[in-house]
Amino acid sequence: MAIIYHPNKKIFTLHTAHTTYQMQVDPLGYLLHLYYGDKTNSPMDYVLTYADRGFSGNPYAAGMDRTYSLDALPQEYPSIGTGDYRNIALNIKNEKGVESADLLFKSYEIRSGKYQLQGLPAVWADKEEAQTLEIVLADENAQVEVHLLYGVLEENDVITRSVQIKNTGTGQITIEKAAAACLDFVQGDFDVLRFYGKHAMERNLERTSLGHGTIAFGSRRGTSSHQYNPAVILAEKGTTETAGICYGMLFVYSGNFSCEAEKDQFNQTRLLLGLNEELFSYPLAEGETFTVPEVILSYSADGLSALSQQYHNCIRNHVCRSKYVHMQRPVLINSWEAAYFDFTGDTIVDLAKEAASLGIDMVVMDDGWFGKRNDDNSSLGDWQVNEKKLGGSLAELITRVHNQGVKFGIWIEPEMVNEDSDLYRAHPDWAIQIPGKKPVRSRNQLLLDFSRKEVRDCVFDQICAVLDQGKIDYVKWDMNRSMADVYAGNLSYDYVLGVYNFMERLCSRYPDLLLEGCSGGGGRFDAGMLYYSPQIWCSDNTDAINRTRIQYGTSFFYPVSVMGAHVSAVPNHQTGRVTSFHTRGVTAMAGTFGYELNPALLSDEEKQQIREQIKTYKKYETLINEGTYWRLSDPFMDEIAAWMTVSEEQDHALVSAVRLRVEANQAAVYVRLRGLKPDAVYLEEQSSRQYSGAALMHAGIPLPPFTREYEAYQFVFTELKEAGVLYEKV
Ligand code: DGJ
Repeated sequence: MAIIYHPNKKIFTLHTAHTTYQMQVDPLGYLLHLYYGDKTNSPMDYVLTYADRGFSGNPYAAGMDRTYSLDALPQEYPSIGTGDYRNIALNIKNEKGVESADLLFKSYEIRSGKYQLQGLPAVWADKEEAQTLEIVLADENAQVEVHLLYGVLEENDVITRSVQIKNTGTGQITIEKAAAACLDFVQGDFDVLRFYGKHAMERNLERTSLGHGTIAFGSRRGTSSHQYNPAVILAEKGTTETAGICYGMLFVYSGNFSCEAEKDQFNQTRLLLGLNEELFSYPLAEGETFTVPEVILSYSADGLSALSQQYHNCIRNHVCRSKYVHMQRPVLINSWEAAYFDFTGDTIVDLAKEAASLGIDMVVMDDGWFGKRNDDNSSLGDWQVNEKKLGGSLAELITRVHNQGVKFGIWIEPEMVNEDSDLYRAHPDWAIQIPGKKPVRSRNQLLLDFSRKEVRDCVFDQICAVLDQGKIDYVKWDMNRSMADVYAGNLSYDYVLGVYNFMERLCSRYPDLLLEGCSGGGGRFDAGMLYYSPQIWCSDNTDAINRTRIQYGTSFFYPVSVMGAHVSAVPNHQTGRVTSFHTRGVTAMAGTFGYELNPALLSDEEKQQIREQIKTYKKYETLINEGTYWRLSDPFMDEIAAWMTVSEEQDHALVSAVRLRVEANQAAVYVRLRGLKPDAVYLEEQSSRQYSGAALMHAGIPLPPFTREYEAYQFVFTELKEAGVLYEKV
């Protein structure tokens, strides 16, 4: 049983394979958090301590007991106005503007299977793989019920949390703040790991010591954003990749979010993740319910790599739903960096011809095929094929591409409209704007109001009319601006639900379609999107060296199998850097592989390298995408970027390394491997050398001396099953 209720102590215990999570309904009816960490059968209420705390509030029900304060006790879902002066999870305002929610335990239910959330992405599981706990808290005075939902995926070592808020009264209430999860720690000294960035340089890792006060970050851009990923790790000081305690929280949501980590006056820590309270004020009429998107929690006592692996497994097996998740994906070539807007139908067919001769499976026609779009100032919203530009219909183009023996994919950006478009001219009020105010432009485009069904329906019909013109195997769904002009407190949330609704319809109408998410690269790289699209274009930055950092940061929560990564031309279009074809290939093989260049401009030798890269990728694709991923260096600090994947049986491993810095007379650089069997003997393919697993993990292997900067290396290790004999020869 993953979920147990102990009635005598009113303790709820949630067990996963290696962790335990506990909470207790205390004598006053408050739901206190007791514990999250290594698996234990012990009731953990002994961790609660009581002392007279000056200037901390005492609930009236505590009588004259000044040692009972919610300002000092660990709570499960702290709310406004209870005498807890720390950051809170929930703020509710009534019609008179009074902000108060004093939540007391009302009931609970344990169910088999994992709860699902209407209209929102969420972790899914078979009935026997998960259990659900629903705890109802209520404030009779504020006339609100709060349903705390816990999903326990025992084997995956993850617990999900979501919240439903119900207006049980007769008047309107307004939700001013709603976190999905709160974790209170009565002791501990932590670092906060967050993933910050910007367009074309997403998910840089920053590790900061949590002192007194709050470390807060989030998004108010309408999307999860390039700037901060909706995820956080709280790690005990000294925690490394392979040792130490750490906790993760990952938001399954693609819009505004907020994360707060606070160390309080008693050196206790609170971690909150949920909806951003800015630009949010959600009215709830009598009888209505609001659902807070869910957070995936995980805990590791074995360092950051183990935590990441738990998230990778959860995302691959319980977030992504596409039939492509565990399939080999087509190696694609995308027209964007090959031609930008400057293409015709013949350009696409030429790409297809080259693709066929190189072993590339699919051509993707990126931005510029519709309306009169020859630059990024017009036509978004007019999803009619520009037949003049393509030299014929889309159906004809698809046939010409298929005739080359390659698949066809297409780019769309459904959420957008240009003022220079027929759609905007017909429906200017469909763009998000504040009445009487000129809207904020970005990339000269406006955001369509996807919270409105008629707007979504119109775009959906247009997109379907395009997709129905031929066999289109792949769609890249782009989104190239942030939200502004938030005209109402419900907009940011309802907009995201509108996008999900559109994606759900698209996925059910085209179940064979491979959908790749994108938002100016990785501006909406989150678990919410992965529910609909099994891969996301990781970044508009295709520079192999910058990519080692971007993909490193991304790997803390997201598996390699969801990161779009392509080999592009040099000098790189974003950085001007020149790296070898091999280095670009090695880096792109830490993702869903493809190309973003014009092969016609390549030498025969480079073309031959493409053929070989594709062979290598296909040979190791399953290992790369399904294996256990280990970070072997920190590319922000170290002179190399190195990572590896190991098969489930630990008998195959692919190790990749890229030199980031070189200097004259350089000391030897060693890469220490992880996740192997210490007693097994492994054969390295290229050198035919044999090593014991222990040696590879403890001494590592030296990289060969370099001859030029940014060299990359791949090593393939295979276990020698008849190791006993061969080991003698080592
Ligand atoms: C941003 C994307 O990330 C690029 O790959 C490309 O699709 C452009 N948009 C097209 O406008």
